[in-house]
Amino acid sequence: MSIIAYLNGKFIPAEEASISPLDRGMVFGDGVYEVIPVFNRKILYLEEHLDRLNQSLQGIRMTLPHTHAEWKSLLTTLVEENNLNHGGEHQWIYLQVTRGFQLVRDHQIPNNLTPTVFAISYPKILTSKEEQAQGIKVIATTDIRWKYCYIKTTARLAYTLMYQEAKDAGVDEAIIINNGYALEGTSSNFFMVRHGVISTPPKGPLLLSGITRDKILALAEKHKIPYRENKISERELLKADEIWITSSIRGIYPVVEFNGEPISNGKAGPFWSKMWDYYAEDITNLSLSVSN
Ligand code: PDD
Repeated sequence: MSIIAYLNGKFIPAEEASISPLDRGMVFGDGVYEVIPVFNRKILYLEEHLDRLNQSLQGIRMTLPHTHAEWKSLLTTLVEENNLNHGGEHQWIYLQVTRGFQLVRDHQIPNNLTPTVFAISYPKILTSKEEQAQGIKVIATTDIRWKYCYIKTTARLAYTLMYQEAKDAGVDEAIIINNGYALEGTSSNFFMVRHGVISTPPKGPLLLSGITRDKILALAEKHKIPYRENKISERELLKADEIWITSSIRGIYPVVEFNGEPISNGKAGPFWSKMWDYYAEDITNLSLSVSN
């Protein structure tokens, strides 16, 4: 199975895509990215992802190399090409913009480089609600990141090291703790349910403003489920009735164990079940709508 990629204006088999080792993305981790879900061949929440891409680019002093309409056309072609190629109705797009090739390594940010634009879309196998209800286990980990975590930068070594801690501990995700407060997972946001109220940490520089997170808050509002955005300590998390992690790749996943302690009696909780249905309904409706 060959996967089609987009690189600087061309659609090519992924194995043929190559860039210079002197791209600043390689040398300095000087770039940003997005991961965007595709459901029934429909790109989900594209505007929101492009707005966040723009915010990340501004954060590293770059400008968007394409208009939203250009991105839409480019990514739609990518999804269709991959659908023809491997029949993937459901996919996930990885899209990356780095500052580009620079012959002589220089710490100063140059203003005359051509950005390297790369995108690829992989087939995605959907997991059923029953499978997801098995839940995942998580641990807490100490924050080792920089202070601009709202930028979705390709420089992700701190995240992969923290994730590896989780894997080494035999669990599926780590929740990042900074000064006693839980911020987010290594590639997800998290929610807590306690006494019938959903809560998640407020947006700020120390976490990524997840598109899935925002959708869940909007769904809570729409379905009149009480919710709050407030700081959550590691201690409070241990007392949670439910914990979920959320991302474009995983959707909404229940956490059944935190730091070795069962959460929600080690089972997916009723709030998770309700929200899972609301989210599934939202993405199904979006995929059926003519415009996106
Ligand atoms: N990451 N926080 C972090 C640190 C993340 O890396 C991600 C997603 C999220 C959730 O954001 P969203 O709901 O927009 O996917 C929160 C992607 C999936 C990744 O790096 O693979």
